[in-house]
Amino acid sequence: MSNHKLLLGCILGIASCIGPAVIAQTSSAQTQAKASIPHLEKRGQATQLIVAGKPWLMLSGELHNSSPSNAEYMRPIWKKLADMNLNTVIGAASWELIEPEEGHFDFSSVDMQITEAHKHGLKLVLIWFGIWKSTSGSYAPMWVKTDPARFPMVQTSSGHQKMPFGVSFEGISVFGKDILASDAKAFRALMRHIRATDTDHTVLIMQVENETGMFGDNRDRSPLAEEAWSKPVPPELLSYLADHKANLTPALSRAWGSQGFQTKGTWADVFGKDATAGEIFMAWHFARAIEFLTETGKSELALPMYTNGWLGPVANMIEPGQYPSGGPVAGMLDIWRAAAPKVDMLSPNLYSPDFQGICAQYARPDNPLFIPETYVSVPNLFWAIGHHAALGYSPFGIDNISSEALGSAYKTLGALAPLILSHQSEGEVMAVLQGNDASVKEFEDATGLSLKFGDVASVMAPPSAKKPAEKSDEKKIPATDQAPVFGQTAKDDRGFAIVIRTKPNQFIIAGSGILIRSSKAKIGTVDEILIERGQPIPGRRLNGDETFSGNLFTLDVDQLAVRKITTYSLQ
Ligand code: DGJ
Repeated sequence: MSNHKLLLGCILGIASCIGPAVIAQTSSAQTQAKASIPHLEKRGQATQLIVAGKPWLMLSGELHNSSPSNAEYMRPIWKKLADMNLNTVIGAASWELIEPEEGHFDFSSVDMQITEAHKHGLKLVLIWFGIWKSTSGSYAPMWVKTDPARFPMVQTSSGHQKMPFGVSFEGISVFGKDILASDAKAFRALMRHIRATDTDHTVLIMQVENETGMFGDNRDRSPLAEEAWSKPVPPELLSYLADHKANLTPALSRAWGSQGFQTKGTWADVFGKDATAGEIFMAWHFARAIEFLTETGKSELALPMYTNGWLGPVANMIEPGQYPSGGPVAGMLDIWRAAAPKVDMLSPNLYSPDFQGICAQYARPDNPLFIPETYVSVPNLFWAIGHHAALGYSPFGIDNISSEALGSAYKTLGALAPLILSHQSEGEVMAVLQGNDASVKEFEDATGLSLKFGDVASVMAPPSAKKPAEKSDEKKIPATDQAPVFGQTAKDDRGFAIVIRTKPNQFIIAGSGILIRSSKAKIGTVDEILIERGQPIPGRRLNGDETFSGNLFTLDVDQLAVRKITTYSLQ
C-alpha cells in the first residue's frame, strides 16, 4: 500500500477494519486454493462475491443481449462503460453463436468480450443463452429450432405459447428427451473454454439461461409433460415442504394446504389442479433443468451461477401463463430452492415500481440479492446495497444509457466499496430512502441524529414561508411510480443515503437530498470526503456556517456527497 493510501485508510478507518480480516480469511490452505476462483462466501452477516481474495461489489450494467455478438458494434462501448465507472458488465454467450452446427464450437464472441473487458479494466458476467431467452428458444441454434421432432415445443391448451398481447413465443419444452443433454454439452464446452483461456478470471459469474417459464398456459400440455404431471411428486420436494412448512411462501403454502398438506401423491393429489398447481409443477421442472446445467458447468469451472426471473404477478399479468409460469417468481422461490440448491442466486429482473418490496422478497438467508436487470435509479441502487447488502446492481441496456447520475454514483460507491463491504459483514451498513419511514427510524436510533429529506431551504423554512405543496416530505413524487422504460433512465429525486458506522460514534454518509441535525447526540465534527482517482480523500473540515455551528449538515439535492461525522454526548 502506498503512503498515500495508507494515510487515507487510516483517515477513513479502512486499514484497521479490512486488513486483519482479510489476512485471517486468506490464511487457510483451503481458502487460498479457492481464492483464485471468484466465489461467494458468507462473511459475517453478508454473503459476498470474493474476487482474488477480496470482496467485490458489482457496479454493473447489462448490455442489450445481442450487442456482444459483434466486435465492431461493441468497439466504442467498452470505453463508455469504463468512463461511466462500471466495474462489471453483463454480456452474453449465446448457444447459436457458440455451436452453429452440432458439435462444432466457436467461442470468438466470448473471447472478444473477455479480451475487451479485461483491456478496459472491467469484469464480466456472461449470460448463457441456451434453451431459454424470456421463455422462447430465440438464441438456440437453427439445428435445434428446426427439429421439433427431436426438440419438442411447449404446447398449451390452445397450441403454441402466446404472450398476453398476442405474440407467439416458440418455446422449447423442458420435457424433451434430448434438449437438456444437448444444451449441457454446449454449456460444458463453454465453461471448459473459459477455464482454459480466462486465467485472469475476468469472468466472475455465469447466468444460466434467461427468464425461464412459459406463456399461454400454466403448464405444458405436450405428451411428455402430461406423462410427468401424472407421476408422483419427488420425495426431495416433499421433504423440503415438510422441513420448511412454517416459512413457505404464501402461494405455495395455500396450494399445498388446499389439498390438506399431503405428504405423497401425484402433483394433482398434493397441489390440486388449478393454475398455481400447474405453476408449481413447471417451476420444479425448470428449476431441475437449471440445476442440471449449473452442476454440469460448475464441474468444469466452479464460478458462482445464478438464474434470473421475469416477475409475476404484475400489472395486467396476473395468472401464471400471463406471466411466465414456472420461472423463479417470488411465490415459487421455495420450489426453486428445493430443486436447485447449486444455483447460487435467484435474481429478480426488477422493472417493477415496487423496487423495495421486490428486493425484500428476493433477499433471503438462502438467496443473496443480485439485481441483474433494472432501470437507472440511484436511490434504488443505494437501497439495494445499503439495506440488503446486494452483490450488485445492473441497469439493462447499458450500452444505450448515458447517465451522469449513475456514473457519479458508481464513482462514489467504487471508492467506498472496501469500506462498505468490510462493514457489511459486521452489520454496520444501512440505507435511508425517502418514503421509507422505517429506514429513517433505524438511522435515528443508530446515530442519535435526526434526519429529514430535502434541502436546508425547504426543511428549515418557518411554516409560514412554505408553499402548501412543500409542507411535507411527500412533495416529491418518486419517478419510480411511473412505468420505467428499458434502457432508459427515470428521473428519481428521492433523498437517499448509505450510512457506514466505522466506530461507535463515527459514520461515513454518502447520499443526496437529506438534512441531518443534532438530536439525542451532538454533531462533533463533519469532514468532507472527496473522490479522486477512484479513492476517497479528505476534503474540508466543515464547521461554523457550514454546520450551523455543529447543529446540522446537508447533502444537497441533485448531487451526491460524502461526509464523515463524529458524534458526542454531553451526558
Ligand atoms: C428482460 C430480459 O431478460 C432481457 O433479455 C431483455 O429482453 C429485457 N427484458 C429487455 O427487453
